[in-house]
Amino acid sequence: MQELIFTVFITISYVLTPGASGATSLFNVVDYGAVGDGKTDDSAAFSKAWKATCNAPSRNPILIIPATKIFLLKPVTFSGPCKPTSIHVLMSGNIVAPNSKMAWKGFHINRWLAFTHVNGLTIIGSGTINGRGAAWWSQPCLHKVPKGVTCKGPTALTFYSCNGLVLKGIRHINSQRNHITISNCKDVTFSNLHISAPKTSPNTDGIDISGSSNVQILNSFIGTGDDCIAISSGSSHINITGIACGPGHGISIGALGAHGEDTVEEVHVRNCTLKGTMTGVRIKTWQGGVGNARRISFEKIRFIRADSPIIIDQYYCPSRVNCKNETSGIRISDVSYRSIIGTSTTDKVINLSCDQNVGCTNIQFNYVYITSTVPGKKAYAFSFNAHGNYTHTRPVVKGLQAYPGEEGGYLKKDG
Ligand SMILES: *[C@@H]1O[C@H](CO)[C@@H](O)[C@H](O)[C@H]1NC(C)=O
Ligand SMILES: *[C@@H]1O[C@H](CO)[C@@H](O)[C@H](O)[C@H]1NC(C)=O
Ligand SMILES: *[C@@H]1O[C@H](CO)[C@@H](O)[C@H](O)[C@H]1NC(C)=O
Ligand SMILES: *[C@@H]1O[C@H](CO)[C@@H](O)[C@H](O)[C@H]1NC(C)=O
Ligand SMILES: *[C@@H]1O[C@H](CO)[C@@H](O)[C@H](O)[C@H]1NC(C)=O
Repeated sequence: MQELIFTVFITISYVLTPGASGATSLFNVVDYGAVGDGKTDDSAAFSKAWKATCNAPSRNPILIIPATKIFLLKPVTFSGPCKPTSIHVLMSGNIVAPNSKMAWKGFHINRWLAFTHVNGLTIIGSGTINGRGAAWWSQPCLHKVPKGVTCKGPTALTFYSCNGLVLKGIRHINSQRNHITISNCKDVTFSNLHISAPKTSPNTDGIDISGSSNVQILNSFIGTGDDCIAISSGSSHINITGIACGPGHGISIGALGAHGEDTVEEVHVRNCTLKGTMTGVRIKTWQGGVGNARRISFEKIRFIRADSPIIIDQYYCPSRVNCKNETSGIRISDVSYRSIIGTSTTDKVINLSCDQNVGCTNIQFNYVYITSTVPGKKAYAFSFNAHGNYTHTRPVVKGLQAYPGEEGGYLKKDG
């Protein structure tokens, strides 16, 4: 918090200081008619304030969402491109979603708040975004639908097509569907976020990343009952560092291979703790498809009672009906697991189920120690068609090659 206040202070004083960079301008949503009593629909006021900010003549306008107030917003899209090269949103106040799903009548059901085609956007502050998602969790359709029809409720916060995005400090709770989607973006830094929803809320992923590159997610808490972070097709150069994740489904890559070519590469997950998650770190692909999941590393990870800590699943088929058995497959290669410790609530703590035709190559385990909390059961690893090496790893991963000195996997000192 100290650091956050400090950064806000620096940011404001920097832009408020008259000088060479020219005039700055502040756009307070209240000046555009927002009430902030948690009941009045403030969507129109926010849209007006955004338009003014986006067309500001100054280089660094700041949109102000003032503290202590609660702004009720219907679905709103804040679109660019904007005139200024950078825009700050100072989010000290809070934003809540409508109580009723009917507020989405006439709007795209897929989203609640969206920023599209905005470059140089920084959203910073200690305010809370509350999706009030409970109504959607039990029934994500707007109206009654015939049996078998599936609906997807809104993503709470969407960033689509952006260059240079910073999101820092905010609290984000109880989204209708996933909390945040980053899609078709470049140069993104998220930090000091607190994202949470009840353990039982369905499809409330923390952060979903697709088609994006140079993304950093740092020092945040994410516990939503679903994926903390999910990285899908077309994403590369993603760093995930200092995340406390859980309850939920852990950190996952995929599922890749559902349609056509899918590639995810250069994903580095470091210094994360996964507590009480169903899966831990997971790479999943459907049968079929072409493309790659490669140059992926998991380092300094701690599991606290994860059900299935380490998974590669190339037979992903959650519904278990019409699961295909294809000859093509996504290539998984150059994946390393290093300095990982922790506990699992099951005994199958590592499951590398690689494609029957393509297989996984250059899979590396170094200093990985995972134990089972199941009384009387010893942790074991399952691996199919995985190729690579391990050293200083328990349980041993049969199928991978032991480095010299491992003696079939067991270090001499352990007997
Ligand atoms: C990810 O981390 C590596 C190593 O610390 C660094 O070289 C790279 O610039 C980082 N990438 C991003 C997008 O932050
Ligand atoms: C690791 O992550 C935690 C947050 O979970 C953070 O407080 C700590 O500074 C990080 N350590 C390093 C070495 O990055
Ligand atoms: C998939 O097909 C191959 C032959 O292409 C066969 O050997 C294998 O048993 C099949 N796997 C499943 C799960 O049906
Ligand atoms: C893990 O391994 C088993 C084989 O023992 C397999 O049948 C199972 O479906 C695998 N995948 C997951 C995601 O558990
Ligand atoms: C690592 O595994 C590969 C096969 O996957 C093998 O060719 C190589 O010799 C192994 N390296 C070591 C140091 O054991």
